[in-house]
Amino acid sequence: MEPTTFVLFGATGDLAKRKIYPALYLLFVDQKLPKSFSLIGLGRRELSDETFQANVEQSLSTFSKSEGRDPEVMRNFLRAFRYHVLDVNRKEDYTKLLQLVEQREDELNILPNRMFYLSVGPELFETIAANIHESGLGSANGWKRLVIEKPFGHDLPSARQLNIQLNQAFDETEIYRIDHYLGKPMVQQMGQRLHSALSEQDLGTRNIANIQITASETLGVEERAGYYDHAGAIRDMFQNHMLQLLMMLAIELPNRSSVVEVGNLKKKVMKTLKPLHKMDVSHHIVRGQYGEGEINGGKVAGYTAEPGIALDSLNDTFIAARLKVDDPFWKDIPIYIRTGKRLKEKLTRIVIEFKSESPLQDHLIVEIGPNDGISFQRSNSGKEGSDVDKPVQSKLSAIKAGIPEAYEILIHDALKGDKTYFAHWDEVELSWEWVQPILDAYRENLLPLHIYPAGTYGPNESDKLLEQDGFHWFDFKSASVNDANKGELYAYGHKT
Ligand SMILES: NC(=O)c1ccc[n+]([C@@H]2O[C@H](COP(=O)([O-])OP(=O)(O)OC[C@H]3O[C@@H](n4cnc5c(N)ncnc54)[C@H](OP(=O)(O)O)[C@@H]3O)[C@@H](O)[C@H]2O)c1
Repeated sequence: MEPTTFVLFGATGDLAKRKIYPALYLLFVDQKLPKSFSLIGLGRRELSDETFQANVEQSLSTFSKSEGRDPEVMRNFLRAFRYHVLDVNRKEDYTKLLQLVEQREDELNILPNRMFYLSVGPELFETIAANIHESGLGSANGWKRLVIEKPFGHDLPSARQLNIQLNQAFDETEIYRIDHYLGKPMVQQMGQRLHSALSEQDLGTRNIANIQITASETLGVEERAGYYDHAGAIRDMFQNHMLQLLMMLAIELPNRSSVVEVGNLKKKVMKTLKPLHKMDVSHHIVRGQYGEGEINGGKVAGYTAEPGIALDSLNDTFIAARLKVDDPFWKDIPIYIRTGKRLKEKLTRIVIEFKSESPLQDHLIVEIGPNDGISFQRSNSGKEGSDVDKPVQSKLSAIKAGIPEAYEILIHDALKGDKTYFAHWDEVELSWEWVQPILDAYRENLLPLHIYPAGTYGPNESDKLLEQDGFHWFDFKSASVNDANKGELYAYGHKT
Protein backbone atom coordinates (compact mmCIF):
# COMPACT_ATOMS: atom_id res chain seq x y z
CA MET A 1 0.00 0.00 0.00
CA GLU A 2 1.30 3.45 -0.86
CA PRO A 3 2.66 5.75 1.87
CA THR A 4 -0.11 8.03 3.12
CA THR A 5 -0.71 11.12 5.20
CA PHE A 6 -4.14 10.88 6.82
CA VAL A 7 -5.40 14.40 7.56
CA LEU A 8 -8.29 14.09 9.99
CA PHE A 9 -10.64 17.06 10.40
CA GLY A 10 -12.71 16.59 13.59
CA ALA A 11 -9.99 14.61 15.40
CA THR A 12 -11.45 15.55 18.80
CA GLY A 13 -15.01 14.54 17.88
CA ASP A 14 -17.27 11.66 18.70
CA LEU A 15 -16.99 9.75 15.42
CA ALA A 16 -13.19 9.83 15.49
CA LYS A 17 -13.11 8.39 19.01
CA ARG A 18 -15.88 5.87 18.52
CA LYS A 19 -15.08 4.55 15.06
CA ILE A 20 -12.02 5.97 13.30
CA TYR A 21 -9.30 5.37 15.92
CA PRO A 22 -10.51 1.86 16.79
CA ALA A 23 -10.62 1.00 13.07
CA LEU A 24 -7.13 2.40 12.46
CA TYR A 25 -5.77 0.51 15.45
CA LEU A 26 -7.16 -2.82 14.25
CA LEU A 27 -5.79 -2.14 10.76
CA PHE A 28 -2.41 -1.40 12.32
CA VAL A 29 -2.45 -4.62 14.35
CA ASP A 30 -3.44 -6.59 11.24
CA GLN A 31 -0.64 -4.86 9.31
CA LYS A 32 -3.10 -3.36 6.87
CA LEU A 33 -1.98 0.25 7.22
CA PRO A 34 0.64 1.55 4.79
CA LYS A 35 4.16 0.90 6.08
CA SER A 36 4.76 4.65 6.01
CA PHE A 37 1.72 6.19 7.60
CA SER A 38 1.28 9.55 9.26
CA LEU A 39 -1.86 10.99 10.82
CA ILE A 40 -2.45 14.66 11.52
CA GLY A 41 -5.47 15.32 13.72
CA LEU A 42 -7.21 18.71 13.52
CA GLY A 43 -9.57 20.64 15.77
CA ARG A 44 -10.00 24.07 17.30
CA ARG A 45 -9.05 23.11 20.82
CA GLU A 46 -5.40 23.41 21.87
CA LEU A 47 -3.75 20.04 22.40
CA SER A 48 -0.14 18.92 22.45
CA ASP A 49 0.84 15.86 20.41
CA GLU A 50 1.26 13.95 23.66
CA THR A 51 -2.22 14.83 24.94
CA PHE A 52 -3.71 13.98 21.56
CA GLN A 53 -1.99 10.59 21.59
CA ALA A 54 -3.17 9.98 25.16
CA ASN A 55 -6.73 10.88 24.10
CA VAL A 56 -6.56 8.46 21.19
CA GLU A 57 -5.33 5.72 23.53
CA GLN A 58 -8.15 6.54 25.93
CA SER A 59 -10.75 6.26 23.17
CA LEU A 60 -9.35 2.85 22.25
CA SER A 61 -9.78 1.73 25.86
CA THR A 62 -13.38 2.91 25.77
CA PHE A 63 -14.48 1.90 22.28
CA SER A 64 -12.11 -0.64 20.74
CA LYS A 65 -13.14 -4.26 20.59
CA SER A 66 -9.55 -5.43 20.51
CA GLU A 67 -8.48 -7.13 23.70
CA GLY A 68 -5.19 -7.14 25.57
CA ARG A 69 -3.47 -4.24 23.85
CA ASP A 70 0.29 -4.69 23.86
CA PRO A 71 1.96 -1.47 25.18
CA GLU A 72 4.75 -1.77 22.62
CA VAL A 73 2.27 -2.13 19.73
CA MET A 74 0.32 0.82 21.11
CA ARG A 75 3.43 3.01 21.26
CA ASN A 76 4.28 2.15 17.68
CA PHE A 77 0.74 2.90 16.60
CA LEU A 78 0.58 6.29 18.36
CA ARG A 79 3.98 7.32 17.04
CA ALA A 80 2.30 8.22 13.73
CA PHE A 81 -0.11 10.69 15.38
CA ARG A 82 0.36 14.48 15.43
CA TYR A 83 -2.09 17.23 16.33
CA HIS A 84 -2.56 20.65 14.78
CA VAL A 85 -4.93 23.45 15.82
CA LEU A 86 -7.10 24.51 12.91
CA ASP A 87 -10.30 26.48 12.60
CA VAL A 88 -11.79 25.50 9.26
CA ASN A 89 -12.68 29.12 8.53
CA ARG A 90 -9.14 30.52 9.05
CA LYS A 91 -7.10 30.40 5.87
CA GLU A 92 -3.80 30.94 7.67
CA ASP A 93 -4.38 27.69 9.60
CA TYR A 94 -4.27 25.77 6.31
CA THR A 95 -0.95 27.36 5.38
CA LYS A 96 0.50 26.19 8.70
CA LEU A 97 -1.09 22.78 8.18
CA LEU A 98 0.58 22.49 4.78
CA GLN A 99 3.95 23.20 6.41
CA LEU A 100 3.37 20.48 8.98
CA VAL A 101 2.19 17.97 6.37
CA GLU A 102 5.28 18.65 4.23
CA GLN A 103 7.57 18.48 7.25
CA ARG A 104 6.16 15.05 8.17
CA GLU A 105 6.43 13.85 4.58
CA ASP A 106 10.09 14.93 4.57
CA GLU A 107 10.79 13.28 7.92
CA LEU A 108 9.31 10.01 6.70
CA ASN A 109 10.68 10.49 3.22
CA ILE A 110 7.34 9.67 1.64
CA LEU A 111 5.41 10.75 -1.42
CA PRO A 112 2.74 13.43 -0.83
CA ASN A 113 -0.26 11.07 -0.97
CA ARG A 114 -2.91 12.75 1.16
CA MET A 115 -6.21 11.46 2.42
CA PHE A 116 -8.45 14.20 3.85
CA TYR A 117 -11.09 12.72 6.15
CA LEU A 118 -13.89 15.15 7.08
CA SER A 119 -15.28 13.90 10.38
CA VAL A 120 -17.02 17.22 11.01
CA GLY A 121 -20.51 18.65 10.56
CA PRO A 122 -21.65 18.76 6.91
CA GLU A 123 -21.98 22.55 7.01
CA LEU A 124 -18.15 22.66 7.02
CA PHE A 125 -17.56 20.41 3.98
CA GLU A 126 -17.57 23.12 1.30
CA THR A 127 -15.31 25.49 3.27
CA ILE A 128 -12.78 22.77 3.98
CA ALA A 129 -12.67 21.51 0.38
CA ALA A 130 -12.21 25.06 -0.94
CA ASN A 131 -9.42 25.79 1.55
CA ILE A 132 -7.62 22.53 0.80
CA HIS A 133 -7.64 23.62 -2.82
CA GLU A 134 -6.60 27.26 -2.26
CA SER A 135 -3.87 26.51 0.28
CA GLY A 136 -2.08 24.09 -2.05
CA LEU A 137 -2.67 21.14 0.30
CA GLY A 138 -4.38 19.39 -2.57
CA SER A 139 -1.89 20.19 -5.32
CA ALA A 140 1.08 18.04 -4.39
CA ASN A 141 2.68 15.55 -6.67
CA GLY A 142 0.93 12.51 -5.21
CA TRP A 143 -2.67 11.37 -5.04
CA LYS A 144 -5.34 13.10 -2.96
CA ARG A 145 -8.61 11.71 -1.65
CA LEU A 146 -11.55 13.21 0.21
CA VAL A 147 -13.53 11.02 2.61
CA ILE A 148 -16.83 12.45 3.79
CA GLU A 149 -19.53 11.32 6.13
CA LYS A 150 -23.25 11.60 5.62
CA PRO A 151 -25.42 13.65 5.40
CA PHE A 152 -24.64 14.57 1.82
CA GLY A 153 -27.00 17.51 1.39
CA HIS A 154 -30.45 17.85 2.95
CA ASP A 155 -32.43 17.70 -0.29
CA LEU A 156 -31.81 17.44 -4.03
CA PRO A 157 -30.80 21.08 -4.69
CA SER A 158 -28.46 21.26 -1.67
CA ALA A 159 -26.82 17.92 -2.54
CA ARG A 160 -26.22 19.12 -6.09
CA GLN A 161 -24.82 22.41 -4.81
CA LEU A 162 -22.49 20.62 -2.40
CA ASN A 163 -21.28 18.33 -5.14
CA ILE A 164 -20.50 21.26 -7.44
CA GLN A 165 -18.48 22.87 -4.65
CA LEU A 166 -16.56 19.70 -3.84
CA ASN A 167 -15.83 19.12 -7.52
CA GLN A 168 -13.92 22.39 -7.64
CA ALA A 169 -11.32 20.81 -5.40
CA PHE A 170 -11.73 17.04 -5.96
CA ASP A 171 -13.03 15.11 -8.91
CA GLU A 172 -15.48 12.26 -8.49
CA THR A 173 -12.77 9.59 -8.58
CA GLU A 174 -11.19 11.28 -5.54
CA ILE A 175 -14.36 11.55 -3.41
CA TYR A 176 -15.22 8.70 -1.02
CA ARG A 177 -18.72 9.11 0.47
CA ILE A 178 -19.04 6.82 3.47
CA ASP A 179 -22.30 4.97 3.93
CA HIS A 180 -21.30 2.58 6.67
CA TYR A 181 -24.06 0.13 5.69
CA LEU A 182 -22.00 -0.55 2.55
CA GLY A 183 -19.07 -1.52 4.77
CA LYS A 184 -21.04 -4.20 6.60
CA PRO A 185 -19.69 -7.66 5.73
CA MET A 186 -23.19 -9.10 5.32
CA VAL A 187 -24.11 -6.42 2.80
CA GLN A 188 -20.92 -6.97 0.82
CA GLN A 189 -21.33 -10.75 0.81
CA MET A 190 -25.10 -10.76 0.41
CA GLY A 191 -25.18 -11.78 -3.25
CA GLN A 192 -23.03 -14.86 -2.97
CA ARG A 193 -24.69 -16.02 0.26
CA LEU A 194 -28.17 -15.37 -1.07
CA HIS A 195 -27.61 -17.38 -4.21
CA SER A 196 -26.31 -20.38 -2.29
CA ALA A 197 -29.25 -20.09 0.13
CA LEU A 198 -31.68 -20.02 -2.80
CA SER A 199 -30.21 -23.10 -4.40
CA GLU A 200 -29.87 -24.93 -1.08
CA GLN A 201 -33.59 -24.45 -0.44
CA ASP A 202 -34.49 -25.01 -4.07
CA LEU A 203 -36.14 -21.61 -4.29
CA GLY A 204 -36.34 -19.79 -7.61
CA THR A 205 -36.20 -16.02 -7.80
CA ARG A 206 -39.18 -16.14 -10.19
CA ASN A 207 -41.41 -16.97 -7.24
CA ILE A 208 -40.64 -13.95 -5.09
CA ALA A 209 -43.86 -12.41 -3.76
CA ASN A 210 -42.40 -9.34 -2.07
CA ILE A 211 -39.30 -7.93 -0.44
CA GLN A 212 -39.25 -6.25 2.96
CA ILE A 213 -36.35 -4.15 4.23
CA THR A 214 -36.43 -3.04 7.85
CA ALA A 215 -33.98 -1.06 9.97
CA SER A 216 -35.39 -0.44 13.41
CA GLU A 217 -33.90 1.15 16.49
CA THR A 218 -35.08 1.07 20.07
CA LEU A 219 -33.22 4.29 20.86
CA GLY A 220 -34.92 7.67 20.65
CA VAL A 221 -33.38 10.91 19.51
CA GLU A 222 -30.85 10.91 22.42
CA GLU A 223 -28.44 13.88 22.31
CA ARG A 224 -28.86 14.51 18.60
CA ALA A 225 -32.00 16.67 18.74
CA GLY A 226 -30.41 19.63 16.93
CA TYR A 227 -29.48 17.50 13.92
CA TYR A 228 -32.29 14.97 13.93
CA ASP A 229 -35.20 17.40 14.22
CA HIS A 230 -34.17 18.84 10.82
CA ALA A 231 -33.34 15.49 9.27
CA GLY A 232 -35.96 13.00 10.37
CA ALA A 233 -35.97 9.31 9.48
CA ILE A 234 -36.24 10.12 5.79
CA ARG A 235 -32.89 11.95 5.60
CA ASP A 236 -31.11 10.19 8.45
CA MET A 237 -31.82 6.64 7.23
CA PHE A 238 -34.07 6.31 4.23
CA GLN A 239 -32.40 8.42 1.52
CA ASN A 240 -29.00 6.88 2.19
CA HIS A 241 -28.80 3.58 4.10
CA MET A 242 -32.16 2.11 3.14
CA LEU A 243 -31.92 2.93 -0.54
CA GLN A 244 -28.34 1.64 -0.56
CA LEU A 245 -29.56 -1.67 0.90
CA LEU A 246 -32.22 -1.82 -1.79
CA MET A 247 -29.63 -1.18 -4.51
CA MET A 248 -27.26 -3.80 -3.13
CA LEU A 249 -30.06 -6.39 -3.01
CA ALA A 250 -31.52 -5.52 -6.39
CA ILE A 251 -28.20 -5.86 -8.20
CA GLU A 252 -27.89 -9.39 -6.85
CA LEU A 253 -31.31 -10.66 -7.91
CA PRO A 254 -31.92 -12.45 -10.14
CA ASN A 255 -28.19 -12.84 -10.73
CA ARG A 256 -25.40 -10.30 -10.91
CA SER A 257 -22.80 -10.81 -13.55
CA SER A 258 -19.60 -10.57 -11.53
CA VAL A 259 -17.67 -8.65 -14.16
CA VAL A 260 -19.96 -5.65 -14.28
CA GLU A 261 -19.14 -2.71 -12.07
CA VAL A 262 -21.25 -2.44 -8.92
CA GLY A 263 -21.72 1.33 -9.28
CA ASN A 264 -23.28 1.08 -12.75
CA LEU A 265 -25.68 -1.61 -11.65
CA LYS A 266 -26.77 0.36 -8.61
CA LYS A 267 -27.37 3.39 -10.77
CA LYS A 268 -29.52 1.29 -13.07
CA VAL A 269 -31.66 0.15 -10.12
CA MET A 270 -32.29 3.73 -9.06
CA LYS A 271 -33.15 4.72 -12.61
CA THR A 272 -35.76 1.99 -12.88
CA LEU A 273 -37.45 2.86 -9.58
CA LYS A 274 -40.91 4.16 -10.43
CA PRO A 275 -40.95 7.82 -9.46
CA LEU A 276 -43.50 9.13 -6.99
CA HIS A 277 -45.51 12.23 -7.65
CA LYS A 278 -45.96 14.58 -4.73
CA MET A 279 -49.76 14.18 -4.87
CA ASP A 280 -49.48 10.34 -4.75
CA VAL A 281 -47.02 10.18 -1.89
CA SER A 282 -49.74 9.49 0.69
CA HIS A 283 -50.69 6.24 -1.13
CA HIS A 284 -47.20 4.78 -0.87
CA ILE A 285 -45.55 6.40 2.14
CA VAL A 286 -46.43 6.32 5.84
CA ARG A 287 -44.98 9.03 8.05
CA GLY A 288 -44.80 8.48 11.80
CA GLN A 289 -43.52 9.98 15.02
CA TYR A 290 -43.11 8.16 18.32
CA GLY A 291 -45.31 8.98 21.25
CA GLU A 292 -44.68 7.86 24.80
CA GLY A 293 -44.55 4.17 25.45
CA GLU A 294 -42.49 1.35 26.87
CA ILE A 295 -39.13 -0.02 25.80
CA ASN A 296 -37.79 -3.12 27.51
CA GLY A 297 -40.24 -2.70 30.36
CA GLY A 298 -39.34 0.96 31.06
CA LYS A 299 -41.46 4.02 30.28
CA VAL A 300 -40.06 6.41 27.70
CA ALA A 301 -41.10 9.90 26.65
CA GLY A 302 -42.69 10.79 23.33
CA TYR A 303 -40.62 12.58 20.70
CA THR A 304 -41.96 16.07 21.39
CA ALA A 305 -41.22 15.67 25.10
CA GLU A 306 -37.55 14.93 24.39
CA PRO A 307 -34.98 17.61 25.36
CA GLY A 308 -34.36 20.04 22.50
CA ILE A 309 -37.47 19.09 20.50
CA ALA A 310 -40.27 21.62 20.02
CA LEU A 311 -43.67 20.59 21.38
CA ASP A 312 -45.23 21.12 17.96
CA SER A 313 -42.48 19.38 15.94
CA LEU A 314 -43.85 17.50 12.92
CA ASN A 315 -40.57 15.72 12.32
CA ASP A 316 -40.75 12.09 11.19
CA THR A 317 -39.11 9.41 13.32
CA PHE A 318 -40.57 6.62 11.18
CA ILE A 319 -41.14 6.04 7.50
CA ALA A 320 -42.62 3.09 5.64
CA ALA A 321 -42.62 3.01 1.85
CA ARG A 322 -43.83 0.86 -1.01
CA LEU A 323 -41.56 0.94 -4.05
CA LYS A 324 -41.83 -0.58 -7.49
CA VAL A 325 -38.99 -1.27 -9.88
CA ASP A 326 -39.83 -0.91 -13.55
CA ASP A 327 -37.88 -3.75 -15.12
CA PRO A 328 -38.96 -7.17 -16.38
CA PHE A 329 -37.73 -9.11 -13.34
CA TRP A 330 -39.00 -6.75 -10.67
CA LYS A 331 -42.17 -5.48 -12.24
CA ASP A 332 -44.62 -7.53 -10.12
CA ILE A 333 -42.57 -7.61 -6.93
CA PRO A 334 -43.40 -4.87 -4.44
CA ILE A 335 -40.59 -3.72 -2.18
CA TYR A 336 -41.47 -2.40 1.25
CA ILE A 337 -39.03 -0.41 3.32
CA ARG A 338 -39.46 0.84 6.86
CA THR A 339 -37.18 2.44 9.39
CA GLY A 340 -37.72 4.24 12.63
CA LYS A 341 -36.72 5.08 16.15
CA ARG A 342 -38.18 3.81 19.42
CA LEU A 343 -39.44 0.63 17.80
CA LYS A 344 -39.81 -2.72 19.45
CA GLU A 345 -36.47 -4.24 18.40
CA LYS A 346 -33.07 -3.14 17.19
CA LEU A 347 -32.34 -4.87 13.92
CA THR A 348 -31.58 -4.53 10.24
CA ARG A 349 -33.19 -7.24 8.14
CA ILE A 350 -34.17 -8.05 4.59
CA VAL A 351 -36.93 -10.59 4.10
CA ILE A 352 -37.71 -12.26 0.79
CA GLU A 353 -41.18 -13.73 0.85
CA PHE A 354 -42.05 -16.39 -1.72
CA LYS A 355 -45.34 -16.98 -3.48
CA SER A 356 -47.21 -19.93 -2.15
CA GLU A 357 -49.87 -22.09 -3.72
CA SER A 358 -49.51 -24.59 -0.89
CA PRO A 359 -50.38 -24.27 2.79
CA LEU A 360 -46.71 -23.57 3.49
CA GLN A 361 -45.07 -20.18 3.35
CA ASP A 362 -41.33 -19.72 2.67
CA HIS A 363 -39.13 -16.79 3.65
CA LEU A 364 -35.44 -16.10 3.27
CA ILE A 365 -34.27 -13.79 6.03
CA VAL A 366 -31.07 -11.78 5.70
CA GLU A 367 -30.02 -10.43 9.09
CA ILE A 368 -27.61 -7.50 8.81
CA GLY A 369 -27.43 -7.03 12.53
CA PRO A 370 -27.19 -7.76 15.33
CA ASN A 371 -26.72 -11.46 14.33
CA ASP A 372 -25.52 -11.38 10.74
CA GLY A 373 -26.59 -14.37 8.72
CA ILE A 374 -29.14 -15.86 6.38
CA SER A 375 -31.89 -18.18 7.48
CA PHE A 376 -34.82 -19.91 5.91
CA GLN A 377 -38.22 -20.12 7.50
CA ARG A 378 -41.17 -22.28 6.55
CA SER A 379 -44.43 -21.55 8.28
CA ASN A 380 -48.13 -22.16 8.05
CA SER A 381 -49.62 -19.82 5.48
CA GLY A 382 -53.04 -20.15 7.03
CA LYS A 383 -54.36 -22.13 4.08
CA GLU A 384 -56.06 -25.41 4.85
CA GLY A 385 -54.09 -28.61 4.77
CA SER A 386 -50.93 -27.65 6.61
CA ASP A 387 -49.74 -29.79 9.47
CA VAL A 388 -47.07 -27.22 10.35
CA ASP A 389 -48.28 -25.53 13.55
CA LYS A 390 -45.21 -23.45 14.27
CA PRO A 391 -42.61 -21.86 12.07
CA VAL A 392 -39.51 -23.92 11.38
CA GLN A 393 -36.37 -21.90 10.98
CA SER A 394 -32.94 -23.02 9.82
CA LYS A 395 -29.75 -21.01 9.72
CA LEU A 396 -28.12 -21.28 6.31
CA SER A 397 -25.07 -19.11 6.72
CA ALA A 398 -23.59 -16.77 9.27
CA ILE A 399 -20.85 -14.18 9.36
CA LYS A 400 -18.03 -15.41 11.56
CA ALA A 401 -17.28 -13.50 14.74
CA GLY A 402 -14.12 -11.40 14.76
CA ILE A 403 -14.15 -10.30 11.13
CA PRO A 404 -13.53 -6.59 10.45
CA GLU A 405 -16.28 -4.06 11.05
CA ALA A 406 -17.62 -1.51 8.59
CA TYR A 407 -15.23 1.36 9.37
CA GLU A 408 -12.20 -0.89 9.28
CA ILE A 409 -13.21 -2.25 5.89
CA LEU A 410 -14.09 1.15 4.43
CA ILE A 411 -11.01 2.99 5.71
CA HIS A 412 -8.85 0.18 4.38
CA ASP A 413 -10.59 0.43 0.98
CA ALA A 414 -10.11 4.21 0.90
CA LEU A 415 -6.41 3.80 1.70
CA LYS A 416 -6.15 1.31 -1.17
CA GLY A 417 -8.11 3.58 -3.50
CA ASP A 418 -10.97 1.10 -3.94
CA LYS A 419 -14.29 2.96 -4.29
CA THR A 420 -16.54 -0.09 -4.80
CA TYR A 421 -18.34 0.20 -1.48
CA PHE A 422 -18.67 3.95 -1.30
CA ALA A 423 -21.72 5.92 -2.45
CA HIS A 424 -21.11 7.34 -5.91
CA TRP A 425 -22.52 10.71 -6.86
CA ASP A 426 -24.93 9.29 -9.45
CA GLU A 427 -26.52 7.05 -6.81
CA VAL A 428 -26.70 9.87 -4.29
CA GLU A 429 -28.29 12.22 -6.80
CA LEU A 430 -30.80 9.60 -8.00
CA SER A 431 -31.69 8.80 -4.39
CA TRP A 432 -32.41 12.44 -3.64
CA GLU A 433 -34.41 12.68 -6.86
CA TRP A 434 -36.61 9.80 -5.76
CA VAL A 435 -37.00 11.17 -2.24
CA GLN A 436 -37.60 14.82 -3.16
CA PRO A 437 -41.40 14.50 -3.83
CA ILE A 438 -41.74 12.94 -0.36
CA LEU A 439 -39.86 15.86 1.20
CA ASP A 440 -42.15 18.24 -0.73
CA ALA A 441 -45.25 16.39 0.43
CA TYR A 442 -44.03 16.47 4.05
CA ARG A 443 -43.33 20.19 3.83
CA GLU A 444 -46.77 20.90 2.40
CA ASN A 445 -48.39 18.54 4.87
CA LEU A 446 -49.94 16.41 2.17
CA LEU A 447 -49.85 13.29 4.29
CA PRO A 448 -50.69 12.75 7.94
CA LEU A 449 -48.14 12.29 10.69
CA HIS A 450 -49.16 9.17 12.61
CA ILE A 451 -48.16 9.00 16.24
CA TYR A 452 -47.15 5.48 17.30
CA PRO A 453 -46.50 4.28 20.84
CA ALA A 454 -42.80 3.79 21.57
CA GLY A 455 -41.93 0.09 21.74
CA THR A 456 -44.22 -1.01 18.88
CA TYR A 457 -43.59 -1.75 15.21
CA GLY A 458 -44.68 1.75 14.18
CA PRO A 459 -48.07 3.15 13.16
CA ASN A 460 -50.91 0.79 12.17
CA GLU A 461 -50.95 2.51 8.79
CA SER A 462 -47.61 0.85 8.06
CA ASP A 463 -49.32 -2.56 8.42
CA LYS A 464 -52.16 -1.40 6.20
CA LEU A 465 -49.71 -0.47 3.46
CA LEU A 466 -48.91 -4.17 3.05
CA GLU A 467 -52.41 -5.43 3.77
CA GLN A 468 -53.65 -3.52 0.72
CA ASP A 469 -51.50 -5.89 -1.35
CA GLY A 470 -52.35 -8.99 0.66
CA PHE A 471 -49.15 -9.10 2.74
CA HIS A 472 -47.95 -8.59 6.29
CA TRP A 473 -44.67 -7.33 7.66
CA PHE A 474 -42.53 -10.22 8.70
CA ASP A 475 -42.02 -9.60 12.41
CA PHE A 476 -40.80 -12.00 15.00
CA LYS A 477 -43.27 -11.80 17.85
CA SER A 478 -42.78 -12.97 21.40
CA ALA A 479 -44.32 -16.35 21.89
CA SER A 480 -47.97 -15.88 22.58
CA VAL A 481 -49.18 -18.11 19.75
CA ASN A 482 -47.98 -21.35 21.17
CA ASP A 483 -47.07 -21.60 24.83
CA ALA A 484 -45.06 -24.77 24.29
CA ASN A 485 -42.55 -22.67 22.37
CA LYS A 486 -42.26 -19.67 24.62
CA GLY A 487 -39.10 -17.78 23.90
CA GLU A 488 -38.78 -19.08 20.35
CA LEU A 489 -39.18 -16.85 17.39
CA TYR A 490 -42.41 -16.59 15.46
CA ALA A 491 -43.25 -15.09 12.15
CA TYR A 492 -46.61 -13.99 10.90
CA GLY A 493 -47.12 -15.60 7.55
CA HIS A 494 -48.95 -14.57 4.45
CA LYS A 495 -52.34 -12.99 4.86
CA THR A 496 -55.09 -15.59 4.92
N1 LIG B 1 -20.88 10.31 15.80
C1 LIG B 1 -21.33 9.36 15.02
O1 LIG B 1 -21.53 8.21 15.44
C2 LIG B 1 -21.61 9.64 13.55
C3 LIG B 1 -22.18 8.63 12.77
C4 LIG B 1 -22.37 8.84 11.40
C5 LIG B 1 -22.00 10.04 10.84
N2 LIG B 1 -21.46 11.03 11.63
C6 LIG B 1 -21.05 12.28 10.97
O2 LIG B 1 -19.68 12.48 11.25
C7 LIG B 1 -19.39 13.86 11.36
C8 LIG B 1 -18.76 14.15 12.71
O3 LIG B 1 -19.67 13.82 13.73
P1 LIG B 1 -19.27 13.79 15.28
O4 LIG B 1 -20.37 13.07 15.95
O5 LIG B 1 -17.88 13.31 15.47
O6 LIG B 1 -19.34 15.35 15.67
P2 LIG B 1 -18.73 16.05 16.98
O7 LIG B 1 -18.52 15.09 18.08
O8 LIG B 1 -19.58 17.25 17.22
O9 LIG B 1 -17.30 16.52 16.49
C9 LIG B 1 -17.13 17.57 15.61
C10 LIG B 1 -15.66 17.79 15.35
O10 LIG B 1 -15.56 18.91 14.47
C11 LIG B 1 -14.60 19.80 15.00
N3 LIG B 1 -15.00 21.16 14.62
C12 LIG B 1 -16.19 21.74 14.77
N4 LIG B 1 -16.16 23.01 14.30
C13 LIG B 1 -14.92 23.22 13.82
C14 LIG B 1 -14.27 24.31 13.21
N5 LIG B 1 -14.90 25.48 12.98
N6 LIG B 1 -12.98 24.18 12.85
C15 LIG B 1 -12.32 23.01 13.07
N7 LIG B 1 -12.89 21.93 13.64
C16 LIG B 1 -14.18 22.04 14.02
C17 LIG B 1 -14.63 19.60 16.50
O11 LIG B 1 -13.38 19.91 17.06
P3 LIG B 1 -13.15 21.16 18.06
O12 LIG B 1 -14.35 21.25 18.91
O13 LIG B 1 -11.89 20.81 18.75
O14 LIG B 1 -13.02 22.30 17.13
C18 LIG B 1 -14.84 18.10 16.59
O15 LIG B 1 -13.61 17.42 16.49
C19 LIG B 1 -20.72 14.56 11.12
O16 LIG B 1 -20.82 14.87 9.75
C20 LIG B 1 -21.75 13.51 11.48
O17 LIG B 1 -22.97 13.72 10.81
C21 LIG B 1 -21.26 10.85 12.97
